[in-house]
Amino acid sequence: MPDYDASRLHVIDHPLVQHKISLLRSKDTSTKDFRQLVNELAILEGYEALRDLPLEDYEVQTPLETTIGRRIAGKKLAVIPVLRAGLGMVEGLLTLVPSARVGHLGMYRDPETHDPVPYYCNLPDDVRNRTVVVVDPMLATGGSLAAAIQFLRGAGARDIRCLTLVSCPEGIKNVLDFSPYVELYTCCVDRQLDDNAYILPGLGDAGDRIFGTRLHPGVQSGPSFE
Ligand code: PRP
Ligand code: URA
Repeated sequence: MPDYDASRLHVIDHPLVQHKISLLRSKDTSTKDFRQLVNELAILEGYEALRDLPLEDYEVQTPLETTIGRRIAGKKLAVIPVLRAGLGMVEGLLTLVPSARVGHLGMYRDPETHDPVPYYCNLPDDVRNRTVVVVDPMLATGGSLAAAIQFLRGAGARDIRCLTLVSCPEGIKNVLDFSPYVELYTCCVDRQLDDNAYILPGLGDAGDRIFGTRLHPGVQSGPSFE
């Protein structure tokens, strides 16, 4: 039995999702294919995560008569990628909801403590009235996502849905315990973290694989403005 509120954890176990996640894991998957797969997975996951959006009726004139159509009610989404890797999932969400606003939260993990170090925050000013979809492919310790939730709560967000691709039990527990306000969606729950807080079996460093970068071993750099 998990020791967190499992009712707020949604694991997307659709066969297409599992197929694509397995391709993502392979070290032989190219940057181009990795990026494409992340985009496709964001669409599939977003479709599931948004299935309870409220609808309202409205009048539609067909070529033959007037009927009642249905449309998404209220303000549209805010998609919030956690930089960098979350950027890879934005296009997928915008494919589903093209009018969504996009905010950005920049943070990287301190290489020693693995704690998130925030370096950028730019949010739509009305997140309070929007369904907020936070996207980040990896949920490891949960520090980054917890910090993202804290920023968003501070900005007034109430309906927060977090979408990750690969998660591990430690991170899931930390995020769900940290905030009773969020729903968490993921495509798989991996085994554990290694000594460097990387997910096992995982897929490596999602940001590096999406953007084709590679840090020197042991070197994680924050931005320097000097
Ligand atoms: C990765 C990932 C998450 C974070 C997860 O980002 O995209 O944001 O690590 O780890 P956590 O759950 O232990 O906080 P990273 O810090 O590597 O930055 P990057 O996306 O810029 O590569
Ligand atoms: N960030 C990643 O990109 N991968 C991990 O396994 C853990 C954190």
